[in-house]
Amino acid sequence: MRLGLTGIRKTAAQPQALRGAVPAGTGMGLAKLTLALAVMAMSVAACDAGSSTGNSKNNETNSNYNERINGQVNTVANPNASANVGIEAKANALPAASAVKAATQEAGQTRAQVYESVRKMTAVGKQLFFDPSLSGSGKLACASCHSPDHAFSPANSLAVQLGGNDMHRTGMRAAPTLKYLQSVPAFAEHYHESDDEGDESVDAGPTGGLTWDGRVDRGSDQARIPLLSSFEMGSSPAKVAAAVKVSPYADAFRAAFGEHIFDSDEATFNAVLQALETFEQTPEIFYPYTSKYDAYLAGKAQLTKAELHGLEVFNDEKKGNCASCHISQRTMDGAPPQFSDFGLIAIGVPRNRALPVNRDPHFYDLGACGPERTDLGGRAEFCGIFRTPTLRNVALKKSFFHNGIYHSLDQAVRFYAQRDTNPEKFYPVSKGKVQKFDDLPQRYWANLNTEPPFDRKPGDKPALDEAEIKDVVAFLNTLTDGYKPEDKQGNKPEKTAAAN
Ligand code: HEC
Ligand code: HEC
Repeated sequence: MRLGLTGIRKTAAQPQALRGAVPAGTGMGLAKLTLALAVMAMSVAACDAGSSTGNSKNNETNSNYNERINGQVNTVANPNASANVGIEAKANALPAASAVKAATQEAGQTRAQVYESVRKMTAVGKQLFFDPSLSGSGKLACASCHSPDHAFSPANSLAVQLGGNDMHRTGMRAAPTLKYLQSVPAFAEHYHESDDEGDESVDAGPTGGLTWDGRVDRGSDQARIPLLSSFEMGSSPAKVAAAVKVSPYADAFRAAFGEHIFDSDEATFNAVLQALETFEQTPEIFYPYTSKYDAYLAGKAQLTKAELHGLEVFNDEKKGNCASCHISQRTMDGAPPQFSDFGLIAIGVPRNRALPVNRDPHFYDLGACGPERTDLGGRAEFCGIFRTPTLRNVALKKSFFHNGIYHSLDQAVRFYAQRDTNPEKFYPVSKGKVQKFDDLPQRYWANLNTEPPFDRKPGDKPALDEAEIKDVVAFLNTLTDGYKPEDKQGNKPEKTAAAN
């Protein structure tokens, strides 16, 4: 059902461009507030240090940028201690200097002031992210479900995390990674690439937005969801404000947001959301581009035979065809690939019967058409679609797909390879009949993707054989940040680097 999909999604030679050409701020929906402008200003400071072309092709500029940020934002201890290993990854496209000038003027602040303000918000945002006292139970922080050691996905292998006031409640979805969200565009029902990114005339269909169903565009709006959700942090603006007021970082909070920020709970709460969004846009933590694959693209590491073959299968339109949605090549302007085109797609993942919500046989998580997302309810064409996640750091995850049904990459890749040739391996069999697509009512099956590797039927040869599945998994392991070039000698798995 994804009209025009083929134009953009399929052609490896026509890679997706970095949606936001600025390093941050665009990330969580297109730049709007001071914050976004501020972060843009940060990168221009870096731009000054290198060349001022504002061109993402400039390695020099980007490595300077990383160095400077690492040096200057030193209040933010990097949880991924190994993040910057000096591989210039062409990490961030830099904004045009004129845009920033306009931005800083609009905000009425000098560049230095804007930069300082972002630095303070980032430091406070980090404290908030790790603070369980914001939750109703006092036990759950953002970091409880988004562990920095696992690319900000859960440290445990539960399909869905525990929360709520008694810490026994669950939602319906697996907690995603928070890395590489900076390029997710705002949600659009009909997404068109900009002309320099691709073919503007192609309608790529529903694309973008944060969470699995794309229902919010900004990090601040997203942060409101877990803080207030009865099955997650179960808090309220008043409770959050009270906790921040007595926290060890209360003074820092005032310094970041003004003397009177605690006068109103609503203002405090909104500042909390803004600080969390700012923290999530710290480039060296959230989008460092330090994987082995980035080093490989920069000509600084070699992939093993298995990894290279895995990459080939991943890109091959007749085999994995993975790159049609999980873009693996640099953009036209040289920015590194995000491993997602951010499209919302239905791939018919099996029902996870271990989830408490699924004990009700009438309950379905239909993604963009509800029930979590409400604005597209009743629009059949949006039922069963979920946003394509990045595959960067996917090897650090312990549960895969929106309902966390699989717990190894081997299982996840096998699902792609054999969903249609051996459906009995994935779906329940009742009276000798396979209940295919058991988590999507039949009236929505027209939404399911049928392109390779999903173009087969029982009896056909699977798109990937056993060895190819293994090699694709080996390739996915090269997408973990924190690669140390010295590992390249012994073909070591990424685990060593990743575990740091
Ligand atoms: C109980 C576990 C839990 C806690 C605590 C939690 N999250 Fe999440 N987070 C999730 C789940 C589950 C999702 C996916 C939600 C969905 O799709 O509806 C998610 C999604 C997100 C996303 C969107 C990611 C994407 O791919 O679009 C962001 C950003 C995020 N969380 C940030 C936070 C912040 C900030 C906090 C603290 C205020 C937080 N989370 C607390 C479980 C949690
Ligand atoms: C048509 C677009 C499309 C293609 C082709 C595709 N994917 Fe995906 N991928 C998605 C979507 C959408 C999801 C999330 C689906 C869901 O949870 O319901 C996903 C999820 C995943 C996940 C789980 C990630 C996580 O964080 O939970 C892995 C792993 C994955 N894909 C690997 C692959 C591999 C390997 C291939 C090729 C064999 C591939 N994908 C081909 C769209 C695609």
